[in-house]
Order: sequence, then C-alpha cells, then structure tokens
Amino acid sequence: MIYAANWKLNKSPLDAKRFVKELLALPSIPEKDVILLPQALSAAALAEALQGTKISWGLQNSYSSASGAYTGENSLQVARDMGARYVLVGHSERRSLFQETNETLALKVQHAQNLAVTPIYCIGETLEQRQKNQTRSILIEQLHRGLHLAVKDLPLIIAYEPVWAIGTGQVATPSQVLETHGWIQEILLDHGFSGLPLLYGGSVKPENAAELKKLQHVDGFLIGGASLEASSLVGIIAAQ
Ligand code: PGA
Repeated sequence: MIYAANWKLNKSPLDAKRFVKELLALPSIPEKDVILLPQALSAAALAEALQGTKISWGLQNSYSSASGAYTGENSLQVARDMGARYVLVGHSERRSLFQETNETLALKVQHAQNLAVTPIYCIGETLEQRQKNQTRSILIEQLHRGLHLAVKDLPLIIAYEPVWAIGTGQVATPSQVLETHGWIQEILLDHGFSGLPLLYGGSVKPENAAELKKLQHVDGFLIGGASLEASSLVGIIAAQ
C-alpha cells in the first residue's frame, strides 16, 4: 500500500520537521510506503528531516519546464536534485482553482517522467457529473488527454479522487470505489497501461481506511486533512 500525504498549503518548515519527529516516534511504520507532499517552501526542511529514513517526498505541483522565464513557478528538476521522488499532477484544486487543463497536465506528466520523478496523476468527477452519470466519460477524457505523452513503461501512479469527497467528510462508498476503480483499470488497459498503482483519495481517515483497503484495485491512498497529524496518518496505515 502507498500512503501519500497531501499537506496542501499547510505546514511551515518547522511544522514539517516536527511532523517527521512525531511520525518516527510512533510505533514502527512501513517507511518505504509513505510519501509526504509539502508545500514547496517547506521541502528543504522536510528533505533534511527525512535523511536516513526510507520515507519519500514530492511536490504538490510543478512546472513543465525545468528553467526559464516562468515567473513564480517551481522547478521539478531542482526539487528532484533535492531528493523529491514524486509530484502530484492535476489535483482537483489545481484543475478548478488554477484552471489547469488535461493538456497542460499531459506536459507535466511527461516532464516528470523525463526527470525520473514519478507523477501521481489525479483524476475525478464533480458531484454534478456523477449525478448526471458522466463519471466514466469524464475519467476517460482525463486519462486519455492527460496521459497521451506518458511513457508506458516508466513509473506512473494514478489517484482517483471524486471532487465531492475531497475535504467534505463524505467518503465514496466501497461499492462506488470498487466500480470506479474497475472502470479506471479498464480505461488504462485500453490505453496500453497495465499494472499502474491506483490510489483512492477523498476524506480517507483512520475510521474508514480498513474497509477501503480491502477493495480490489485500491493500492493506497492520497490523504489530505487526515495526514496533517502524524497520529492520524499512522492510524490510516495501521487500520485493518
Ligand atoms: P481530504 O483531501 O483527504 O482532506 O479529503 C484529499 C486530497 O485533496 O488529496
């Protein structure tokens, strides 16, 4: 299982260091399964705190070029040289608040793979789309257009996050996750991708993690709110 902690715009460098200290003090965790995703300004402090552990880290977003006249963007190449091994691409907040499109995200996936950083490509439907039975077609579009530049045999992770379940406390039901993850695996196969890890995200917490873990095609979680406290992240990891 993969446990990716999306801290969003939270945790200063000091908070990130404190979190690692608390996490390492808790009963043993499978360090190699944990990915911490800090805001870019906390990355250096986090990288330092993680030295000597098997815990990985990555960015929540980065630009699709390594350098140049792109005021305000973050370079994934620099992050990679600092130790980043992952980058989120196309989180729904990036899509809705910052107008990122499947086309720009395709370039980000490609750039990450070129740098040997694993993209975690996020997809998911809004409540309105689900109610109109458009979920499957939205996922097809997001996968088709967002992954068209991806190299099939390089590392890539997919995160399914129904937008209506993010930060709302309303987790998708096991049958919804099972059905949707089944669709996603089918769509990926149709596009020539096999065996990609598939994460679920959206209000995952210690109380619902055990049930979700049992489902076929759930290879891990992308966790927002419940990843901000070390004890609750460990609660999710330990849930069975
Ligand atoms: P949540 O966020 O766990 O707080 O719902 C998940 C995410 O946005 O990645």
